[in-house]
Amino acid sequence: MRFDILTLFPELFASFVKETIPGRAVAKGLIDIRLVDLRSFARGPHRVTDDRPYGGGYGMVMKAGPICRAVESLERAGDRSRIILLSPQGEPFTQARAWELSTLEQLILVCGRYEGVDERLRTECVDMELSIGDYVLSGGETAAMVVVDAVSRLVPGVLGGERSNLEDSFEDGLLEYPHYTRPRVFRNQEVPPVLLSGDHEKIRVWRRTQALKRTLARRPDLLERAELTEEDKRILAGFGQAECLVQSDE
Ligand code: ADE
Repeated sequence: MRFDILTLFPELFASFVKETIPGRAVAKGLIDIRLVDLRSFARGPHRVTDDRPYGGGYGMVMKAGPICRAVESLERAGDRSRIILLSPQGEPFTQARAWELSTLEQLILVCGRYEGVDERLRTECVDMELSIGDYVLSGGETAAMVVVDAVSRLVPGVLGGERSNLEDSFEDGLLEYPHYTRPRVFRNQEVPPVLLSGDHEKIRVWRRTQALKRTLARRPDLLERAELTEEDKRILAGFGQAECLVQSDE
């Protein structure tokens, strides 16, 4: 899978590409990350990429021209390619969207800066807009890193021998169960004995119960949408109201 990242700050991505899981996937040849410097598509002696807003007001607006020319300069993988503008006005980026994007061959990620981008860019040069959350970043670069990270770890082979991404939070609509490693006692807190029992079925049920408890306490909105099994429903029915409240500070 190939990611083309269009940005005014390509150097921001150097250690990200080298150090993260996607970085290792790059080294293994499973994904390819190419950085495109938007400034090189700007015209004039000063290669200006932004300008004052028509109608007045504070701040600068990114010009549509350099971004559209940069997009048009790229080799495209036909309809297996998607052009995405990172913006706080976009559709919320979710794990389900990450799975969908991971089936494509090419993602072109456009990082906006300043107060915004010329509105015509939205209709002329991009297929969709994604937001990574309801807050405003100073640019789309960190949002693009989030998208590259979440999508590339779903590309077959990227996680290698590491644990299956199917066990991750959100894959089944629930938060993950708690994890423990050595030492067995840390600051007087013991690892739950069931995890030392060697009884795989008991461990499975304990983990599922913890995942349900944690999701109910922290993200009840997720439970409403999760696909619950009959066993899940029985476990949930077994939680007393008081127990849920006690667990809510987990
Ligand atoms: N650019 C600025 N804020 C953003 C956000 N929340 N998500 C994606 N891109 C952004």
